[in-house]
Amino acid sequence: MDASKISDIPVAELIRSAMEARKKAYAPYSGYMVGAAVLTNELRIYTGCNIENAAYTPTVCAERTAIFKAVSEGWRRFKAIAVVGSPKGDVTQYAFPCGVCRQVMREFADADNFVVIVAKSEQDYQAFTLSELLPEGFGPENLNL
Ligand code: THU
Repeated sequence: MDASKISDIPVAELIRSAMEARKKAYAPYSGYMVGAAVLTNELRIYTGCNIENAAYTPTVCAERTAIFKAVSEGWRRFKAIAVVGSPKGDVTQYAFPCGVCRQVMREFADADNFVVIVAKSEQDYQAFTLSELLPEGFGPENLNL
């Protein structure tokens, strides 16, 4: 990813917010705890955690919790998202967003400029554009409404 795309993004604050949200993860079945923090075009931050369910399929990922919270409050365009995920305890791995969450990001972002940050800590992270993680995606413009 071209480093200039991340220059105006408050990376440390986003990662810190995602770490804080991870503490709220409800993951009694997988034990996999995820937090996410999404940055709106207006520079507001919304956070989310994964929320599991005894019936399994209603489970929702941290990324979608954060994005849907923002959209439901009226914020529809996003610049970046930070994701922090790992089995319970310390964060020992980079948690890449699942395919469904990548598609949800595609709905509300410019894929060539939206930055996805996967982090182990505020200093230890990787950044990608959504286009890199979801190449040739299907989006709202395909429906031409
Ligand atoms: N999970 C997320 O919250 N985000 C991802 O990108 C990957 C998976 C959650 C869903 C489920 O609660 C747990 O992690 C294990 O899949």
